[in-house]
Amino acid sequence: MTIREIAQLGNDILRIVAKPVDDVNSPVIQQVINDLICTLESTSGVGIAAPQISESWQIIVLASKPTKRYPDAPSMPSTIMLNPSFIAIGDETEKDWEGCLSIPGIRAKVPRYKRIKISYTDQNGLLEIYELEGFIARVFQHEIDHLNGVVYLDRVEDNQDIFSEMEYLKLIAS
Ligand code: NI
Repeated sequence: MTIREIAQLGNDILRIVAKPVDDVNSPVIQQVINDLICTLESTSGVGIAAPQISESWQIIVLASKPTKRYPDAPSMPSTIMLNPSFIAIGDETEKDWEGCLSIPGIRAKVPRYKRIKISYTDQNGLLEIYELEGFIARVFQHEIDHLNGVVYLDRVEDNQDIFSEMEYLKLIAS
């Protein structure tokens, strides 16, 4: 398990579509999974996608927990998702705050589907299907974007919804 360098905005790796995983058990994929978990744990982030450690595979890890940035975030154990996808349940969206390990110092409000039905392959190669809503649905949609070469700033509707981290922390403390 290695803490890997996180690719920063402007790096081409964040702008390409990641390859699907066809062999969950391959040593290459197991190494990427372990490094993703280890790298995410070394940060205050709640999710990470393989392209962020310069590995262009369709793998994400979600690990929601309350933090200084997201004091109301629900707790969930680290969950590894291979080849994840989703469909919206209904067309209701909501705008809320996001940040990204690849874009330090910035927070912005982004519209996302409120409820989604997700599917992915787990670490044992089993297909998993769940419904998600609210914060975790948001994190999932953010990480899926990384697999398609999209970052959350691409989805900001108004430049005035972009804050510095310092102003964001003042806002949530007020
Ligand atoms: Ni991100």
